Amino acid sequence: MNTENQKKIAAEKATESIQSGMIVGLGTGSTVYYALLKLGTMVRKGLDIIGIPTSEGTEKIALEQKIPLTTLATHPTIDLTIDGADEVDKDLNLIKGGGAALVREKIIANASKKILIVVDESKVSRVLGTTFPLPVEIVRFGWEATQTEVNRICGKSTLRQNSSHEGDLSPLITDNGNYILDCHFDGIPAPAEVESQLNNIPGVVENGIFVNRADKIIIGASTGIRYME
Ligand code: A5P
Repeated sequence: MNTENQKKIAAEKATESIQSGMIVGLGTGSTVYYALLKLGTMVRKGLDIIGIPTSEGTEKIALEQKIPLTTLATHPTIDLTIDGADEVDKDLNLIKGGGAALVREKIIANASKKILIVVDESKVSRVLGTTFPLPVEIVRFGWEATQTEVNRICGKSTLRQNSSHEGDLSPLITDNGNYILDCHFDGIPAPAEVESQLNNIPGVVENGIFVNRADKIIIGASTGIRYME
């Protein structure tokens, strides 16, 4: 089974946990995309849910799929969130933010009673930070000074560029109006410590380490579906 099909089976499996009456956190990314399509079909067949999107991109897809939406102001508690990840370890720690939605994703995760993470098998890693750079969202003001402080922890980081337009080398701006630094670690053996060290730097809004947040990882693998919980 190819990677695209692995993403699809994992995402569609997660939607089996959604029941009418739920407030559902809607993650971001190419894997969750398949869950949004499936939820759209389920809603059109009568499933009664309200979603809260983690990005403007997901909001757009959810609206196209006719999934009713709400906000944390109206519904501060989310029953279940389905989200993707860039890297997962055996303790269910995650690196997220490849799609630049990490701030809203962590806010939604924090408000969620249960979180299902959907990935293809390439995302499973022995030590976080060995296969994917860690995204760190920073405010634009004084970003060079913030990067210097971030580099003291990770060694090296790069300012993420806008890849949506060919030849456009301007920095990517997140949904929150900030920049992203992609931090190149040689592994993050103590993710909780690094998460809080980074968030302690003035100018850092949030980073993509998610510790003790996921309840279950649904992995689409070449041989079918696997779980970590
Ligand atoms: C969005 O910022 C990310 O956290 C995504 O959830 C993550 O990058 C996974 O995306 P894919 O499913 O596209 O790999």
